[in-house]
Amino acid sequence: MDKVQAAAEKFAALIENQLARVERMKAEKDFIQYDKLDKIIIGVVGGDGIGPAITHEAQRILEYLLADEIQSGKIEVREINGLTIENRVKANKAIPDDVLAELKACHVLLKGPTTTPRAGDPWPNIESANVAMRKELDLFANVRPVKVAEKGIDWTFFRENTEGSYALGSRGVHVDDDLSFDFCVTTTEGTERIARAAFEYARKTGKNRVTIVTKANVIKTTDGKFLNICQEVAKEYPEIEVDDWYIDIMTAKLVDEKRRQQFRVVILPNLYGDIITDEAAEFQGGVGTAGSSNLGKRYAMFEAIHGSAPRMVQEGRAQYADPCSIIRAASMLLEHIGYTDRAEILTKALDKCMYEEKKLVITGRSDGATGAAFADYVMETIRAMR
Ligand code: IPM
Ligand code: MG
Repeated sequence: MDKVQAAAEKFAALIENQLARVERMKAEKDFIQYDKLDKIIIGVVGGDGIGPAITHEAQRILEYLLADEIQSGKIEVREINGLTIENRVKANKAIPDDVLAELKACHVLLKGPTTTPRAGDPWPNIESANVAMRKELDLFANVRPVKVAEKGIDWTFFRENTEGSYALGSRGVHVDDDLSFDFCVTTTEGTERIARAAFEYARKTGKNRVTIVTKANVIKTTDGKFLNICQEVAKEYPEIEVDDWYIDIMTAKLVDEKRRQQFRVVILPNLYGDIITDEAAEFQGGVGTAGSSNLGKRYAMFEAIHGSAPRMVQEGRAQYADPCSIIRAASMLLEHIGYTDRAEILTKALDKCMYEEKKLVITGRSDGATGAAFADYVMETIRAMR
């Protein structure tokens, strides 16, 4: 077959798929209400590498904070173990079917890092479990807060999490040896819902500025649409100041000590959000300190934003891995399901242990504390604060 026609047919199939996705998005109207559920099921997904070790520590803290609710049956904490690179390779799927069914039986998930194979790895180049989970559970809002009080930094990034350059990231087309295409996807529905989530959050928390970040001057079709729709949604929130920046200058302005203090809530397409949230986390002490929530209408998933550090496991150092990022994710989970008091106390205790008191310090090696000792320290701190 003519290679142009073959590529065009692949593209046509992708279009059909995305049109069907748009219809599914339109059909899903309402957000789940946790206070209306008889029981909230929290799935704890270890992932791989250092994932199971650090996730276990966050789970202990959750179980400690929710002891009464677990006792009364209002909350169930359920371990889900199969999301490892070995199992995923065996099933040749980003998320094996049985694991996906287990995930879907929960309401919210706490997830450790999972290994993302890339070209050149010993693993087949399957799709990232993260990316697949965000798509499968339609977790469209990746919310990543970064706070450094003494520098006047108080940012909350709303990264679109299911579209942009990620939507078809593993479905690009090699036309022939000389030519390859990837695709970038923006939908009206997908953009409206992330924009609304960001503006609603700003309104609810009294944050007075929302910044829209794109590269609409060059990526005119998809970023242009993203920017236009965000600006349309902004009109429903006249009390909130809105500005828009291109991603290149925004990246620079995050290191401008004066300007950056003005940013509050930031909306971005998927790839820019991925990149800039790593930069932003660096001001707070690195990606190991940040937690991240992935919110959809039916499901929500909370995770550490760092990787699975397989080398630490190979060198026998998994017990020294830093659980702070996943513990912060656990606190975001508590907040999301309505246990705001518990979320607050956990955040306070964690900040105290990490930044103020520092009775234990984690170095990732045997000269530092283990993750288990650190989690105990956090729980003791909570006990003392109550
Ligand atoms: C993140 C990560 C993932 C992403 C990787 C692991 C696929 O970098 O959560 O930011 O690119 O989204
Ligand atoms: Mg990233």
